[in-house]
Amino acid sequence: MTDWNKSAWREKPRVQMPDYTDQAALAEVEAQLSKYPPLVFAGEARRLRAELAAASRGEAFLLQGGDCAESFAEFSADNIRDTFKVMLQMAMVLTYGAKVPVVKVGRMAGQFAKPRSAPTETVQGVELPSYRGDIINDLDFTETSRVPNPQKMLHAYTQSAATLNLVRAFSTGGFADIHRVHAWTLGFTESDEAEKYRDMANRIQDALDFMGAAGLTSDVNHELSTVDFYTSHEALLLEYEEALARLDSTSGQWVAGSGHMIWIGDRTRQPDGAHVEFARGVINPIGLKCGPTTTPEDLKVLMNKLNPNNDAGRLTLIARFGAGKVAEHLPRLIETVQAEGANVVWSCDPMHGNTIKSESGYKTRPFNQVLSEVQEFFAVHREHGTIPGGVHFEMTGQDVTECTGGVRAVTDEDLSDRYHTACDPRLNASQSLELAFLVAEELSNNGRRDQAVASA
Ligand code: PEP
Ligand code: CO
Repeated sequence: MTDWNKSAWREKPRVQMPDYTDQAALAEVEAQLSKYPPLVFAGEARRLRAELAAASRGEAFLLQGGDCAESFAEFSADNIRDTFKVMLQMAMVLTYGAKVPVVKVGRMAGQFAKPRSAPTETVQGVELPSYRGDIINDLDFTETSRVPNPQKMLHAYTQSAATLNLVRAFSTGGFADIHRVHAWTLGFTESDEAEKYRDMANRIQDALDFMGAAGLTSDVNHELSTVDFYTSHEALLLEYEEALARLDSTSGQWVAGSGHMIWIGDRTRQPDGAHVEFARGVINPIGLKCGPTTTPEDLKVLMNKLNPNNDAGRLTLIARFGAGKVAEHLPRLIETVQAEGANVVWSCDPMHGNTIKSESGYKTRPFNQVLSEVQEFFAVHREHGTIPGGVHFEMTGQDVTECTGGVRAVTDEDLSDRYHTACDPRLNASQSLELAFLVAEELSNNGRRDQAVASA
């Protein structure tokens, strides 16, 4: 792209970014980060684009998930392992339902910066700047904690590098072997509450037994013992993104070296704003959150800016309207995409439109609302004959109590037990897997429908 440079966003209106007070310290951190190795390289971003292109055609399905905000305090090998593990379990279930490969993308190894609904927060009469994620300031409610500190970018880079290193080791080192993943899935379906999922789990078991009997084991087939696992985050803190942008010497193209896929949030998608300006120039797959206020006009401009060549796999539209609102908002955007002949992956984020304050005062999301939004998303696509290409969840492998409901029902009273998120409430391991079974059901219904249409 000749009319782009990695600093051009600085000339555009910016929102949701901190005002660093110490400019010299900021410049020093940026200079340091620009010398560090990128976390991902261009070939990987291109491969993910190709896989997402398949998802846009219904030949693959995107599973994107992980923390709302990664945290320095919660950083541990166990946390990474458990979220990775649940995503593999979910992918297995989804593969079975969709009958296509599942593209696995973690909200991980860089998901630190958070847009906030208000610039300040008031507690018992004291007003302080809002917490904006561990890459920017601290969660503690004190004046010094909330001052944006550029040094935290270096900490976030180091944590991302370590996270990615472990994920890469898990992906190829035997941990992701399909037969192990299967055993984990069974653990969930054995519980009494999960009876309704047992049938699908048994059918998955039969398929694997058959493969084993036919000699398709991981010893002879490398594909069964390794996975491709990608990272993603919201590209919100543009000083960090710019410092990690790299020119790919083989192609002469710019790549965001901070993660495989980046997305633009619902609050930062102004067509003439800084975030769109940065994202348009890098070759990574780009996600664009679409909320109730997304207009067809804006979407049209954004698609042209972010994907001028209309390459499939470049742009994923992540719909996040809230349960009960999908039928009201999604059709106009689908119609815009159709009218433009645009190639996009349609993904569903059923989290960000379903956040409520519970009676006990916790920020939570009822499992049933999350599920409803997914079902509405599938229904609208069915009506339009378009392709539901993926899902986007805030989830963790830990047994937290942050969202209510699910087969092992978390109640409002339970929320205080293990409420650990630094930002939005996440699905726990059991709720995540349950949702995967329910999405798999939708996907296999879709398949049957397509066949019905084809044979009619
Ligand atoms: C997020 O994905 O964490 C987020 C803030 O989403 P949205 O921009 O859709 O509100
Ligand atoms: Co969130």
